[in-house]
Amino acid sequence: MGKKVKIGVFGGGRGFTMIKQLLNHPDAELVAVCDKYPPLLEKVRKAAEEAGADVALYPTFDEFIKHDMDAVVLANYAHEHAVFGVRCLEAGKHIMSEVLPGETPAQLVKLVETVEKTGLIYSYAENYCYMKAPFEMWKRYREGAIGEIQYAEGEYIHDCSSIWPGITYGERDHWRNNMFPNFYCTHSCGPLITISGLRPVKVVGFETNPNRSEKQMRIGMTPKAAIEMITLENGAVVKSIHGGLKMEPGSVNYQVYGTGGMMESKRYGEADFNMYLEGEKLCRGEWSKYSPVNDIGKDIPSKSTGHGGSDFYTTHCFIEKILGRPDGDWCIDVYTACDMGLCGIMAWRSVLDGNAPKEIPNFRLKADRDRFRNDNICTHREVAGDSVVPRTTYPGPRVPDEVYEEVRKQWLTKDSAVSDLF
Ligand SMILES: NC(=O)c1ccc[n+]([C@@H]2O[C@H](COP(=O)([O-])OP(=O)(O)OC[C@H]3O[C@@H](n4cnc5c(N)ncnc54)[C@H](O)[C@@H]3O)[C@@H](O)[C@H]2O)c1
Repeated sequence: MGKKVKIGVFGGGRGFTMIKQLLNHPDAELVAVCDKYPPLLEKVRKAAEEAGADVALYPTFDEFIKHDMDAVVLANYAHEHAVFGVRCLEAGKHIMSEVLPGETPAQLVKLVETVEKTGLIYSYAENYCYMKAPFEMWKRYREGAIGEIQYAEGEYIHDCSSIWPGITYGERDHWRNNMFPNFYCTHSCGPLITISGLRPVKVVGFETNPNRSEKQMRIGMTPKAAIEMITLENGAVVKSIHGGLKMEPGSVNYQVYGTGGMMESKRYGEADFNMYLEGEKLCRGEWSKYSPVNDIGKDIPSKSTGHGGSDFYTTHCFIEKILGRPDGDWCIDVYTACDMGLCGIMAWRSVLDGNAPKEIPNFRLKADRDRFRNDNICTHREVAGDSVVPRTTYPGPRVPDEVYEEVRKQWLTKDSAVSDLF
């Protein structure tokens, strides 16, 4: 057996999914975990003990990053991945980043240039790309099964109201309470970008009206959906919708229409994966419907089953990429991560500009990076300074402190406040 990749995990909430995978991967060794919340570190200590692993635990990033390791998984706050990613790269570590890639264009420019400067690996853990149907679509599209893409839809409907206390802890300033609606866009648009292999060039954004029912106001959360209408570089149009609309269970769905047929996940079809291919005659074709089997990492004995099994592939492919093996080819690189994240960032600017179309810059090009390297427009004043923008076009009354106190109480009374949601 060759050398194992030494990996640290930054953030022990969602990060616990990767922690479990790393404790069970034959080619990786979990060596360090950082989280400022002590009960999460305690949970990691127990898991490491059960697995017979020696894992160093750190409450601060500054201490954690000094640890002897090859790579870091970023599962910290969603708007701080680029900022901490740059610090990891500068410390000589490969990185895998949870969603989203960054909060502002300037942060993404810095991220891209640090990846280029260091030559280290960046892999974007957009796990929805690896779910059964979209992963199959990715492979079939590459083979040319449905011809050239003309239109596609991606949908991630997830009403987080019932788990809100466990994922925001009653913190007014938690990123989930503060992000603009289009921010969390890559579960819906990301798979369509990997499937087509094309770059998004233009976006028009929308925000729906918020749900301000009494029940929602009691937890200080007023869910809505955000929509991105994206033009790809070949002229194809993509609709991406995500948010907390009322539907249980939530909906994760993709449809891709090409010049020779279409593919879709389960929404309208009967099986996990459904594909229509036009034959020799116009408007005459055949459907195939099946549950795809994925043989990537088939020899790994223990796999994460989270998010429809997709959670396994992000971590596995990252390890394989570091080891220079073929499964690593399925990793999502920093440029594609920026393409995906910029769909939401630029869509929000479109919303604020009366739904005017906005260009999506190509951060592979220095000229485009130069135009955006000082652009920190976002909803956080500490990042944006005077360029701060509102996080909704439906301003409402300020949520009273008592609401957050009550949400915090609900969180703390649940099983020692260590969430096992992800
Ligand atoms: N891909 C998916 O399916 C999926 C699902 C859930 C969450 N996520 C992503 O995972 C990330 C983490 O989400 P989460 O649900 O765990 O919630 P979260 O963002 O509240 O948790 C982040 C964790 O990192 C720790 N942390 C943040 N900054 C720190 C610092 N400077 N020092 C020490 N500790 C720090 C926090 O204490 C917390 O435990 C987010 O980016 C989110 O978008 C992805």
